[in-house]
Amino acid sequence: MRKKVILITGAAGEIGQALINEFIDEDRHDLLTLDLKPLPPELFGQTIHIQGDVLDQNLFARLVTEYEIDTIFHLAALLSTRSEFAPALAHQVNVNGTLALLQLAAEQSQNRGKPVRFIFPSSIATYGLPDLETKTRDFYVREWDWNYPTTMYGCNKLYCEQLGAYYGRHFQQLAETTPVMLDFRSVRFPGLISAYTVPSGGTSDYGPEMLHAAAQGKPYACFVRPDSTIPFMVMPDAVKSLLHLWGAPRERLTHDVYNVTSFSLSAAEFRELVLQAFPGADITYQPDLRRQGIIDSWPAGLNDKLARRDWNWQPDYDVQRAFEEYLVPNIRERYAR
Ligand code: SER
Repeated sequence: MRKKVILITGAAGEIGQALINEFIDEDRHDLLTLDLKPLPPELFGQTIHIQGDVLDQNLFARLVTEYEIDTIFHLAALLSTRSEFAPALAHQVNVNGTLALLQLAAEQSQNRGKPVRFIFPSSIATYGLPDLETKTRDFYVREWDWNYPTTMYGCNKLYCEQLGAYYGRHFQQLAETTPVMLDFRSVRFPGLISAYTVPSGGTSDYGPEMLHAAAQGKPYACFVRPDSTIPFMVMPDAVKSLLHLWGAPRERLTHDVYNVTSFSLSAAEFRELVLQAFPGADITYQPDLRRQGIIDSWPAGLNDKLARRDWNWQPDYDVQRAFEEYLVPNIRERYAR
């Protein structure tokens, strides 16, 4: 018999590491993890880890002979800034990688006669607001507002949301018998902040970078203007949202894609909070006009009413709790070691 597993791609990334830790605490599922990189040493031996590529079809063909994949958390992606420097590669990884996994999940769903749950993190990058006036006016965007991304990453995420919905609802719609389809669920994340890892290649990175630099006593030049405002969320809430959406009864879900958020901050407000925790911090502004343009196109806030209604979404950390109880103490401890 094949071993039943949860597959996590992009497992060595920020969300991946946090998600694996949560599963380890629960100790109820076998995890098959995939990443180009090895997992960090503290996670060695906790999962069946494959160092490999989401574009490697032979690898997947082998994996399905050995494992029954029950759920896929497909986290592997190139983030927004990095994708602008390598758009063709970003499309390969972000779109073709997702397509390969959706196809695998679709086939697995049919073979075992039971839907594979496919959990997909999407992003504020799927939005593209035309100017700052509109951004201020339409502060909390709804899922269907302003879906005009200006980045390769945002285009990739928006399209993959739609591919997921296609595979979950219309796959093989002209076949004589309706196949068992996969069960696709997606959250659109705001900028994420972890106390333990720093992001790489994203455009919301100035928040976490500011904080981690301050905690290490390093100077930091913020690459956006003080008034730049986007929504944020701390990593425990990001993981909570993925797990809650995963566990929600299908009949409660009226949409395939849900906004989730916690608090919105301008770069100046973010800096103030960091200075309260680390009073000597040297944080200046050196806006990079191109990255600024991306942040200006992202919404200032997300309307997450649908998630709250359909699957009782609620973040545990508002801004005060996020800094006082999660970020500052854990970051202090991390760099004191
Ligand atoms: N944090 C991501 C980025 O900046 C947005 O999803 O690319």
